[in-house]
Amino acid sequence: MNQIQLNICLTSYNTEAELPETEQKLMAAARQATHKSYAPYSNFHVGAAVLLEDGTVFTAGNQENAAFPSGSCAEQSVIYWVGANYPNQQIKAIAVVARPGEARPDEYKPVSPCGACRQSLLEYEHRQQEPIRLLMMQPNGGVVVSESISNLLPVKFDADDLRG
Ligand code: THU
Repeated sequence: MNQIQLNICLTSYNTEAELPETEQKLMAAARQATHKSYAPYSNFHVGAAVLLEDGTVFTAGNQENAAFPSGSCAEQSVIYWVGANYPNQQIKAIAVVARPGEARPDEYKPVSPCGACRQSLLEYEHRQQEPIRLLMMQPNGGVVVSESISNLLPVKFDADDLRG
């Protein structure tokens, strides 16, 4: 028996000011998107913002449903919209932020994409054959960055596995 140990490397920035300007704006856009989320059931408002190669930014918040499993996370909402409307644009980065509750409208919280969102994001990274940077807000005003989606899904399933 052998054990295989996997290491995941993330980059930690103490402040958002250390990021390139485009990504600072992306973080701000993700925060803004939490205010457009539809989360009446969980009251957990997630915002995701995608940066395309031409500099365009698109955002979405999570979209919940009375039939709970029918809802959509913020990351999936925005990535599927971008995939559907800009299939030929490369996706450079995605930023994700959460905001729990309405009581403190300016209080943001870190969130990292759930497993299903990682799989959804991985599809687009594989499709474009270029990494997508994932920016996750930290509680102290910093940011943690994964240089790719596959970095967060090291033992992954993608289109290559479908080939015989
Ligand atoms: N949620 C997201 O939008 N993204 C995540 O990565 C984690 C969870 C949403 C789903 C649901 O609407 C709410 O947060 C509570 O789970």
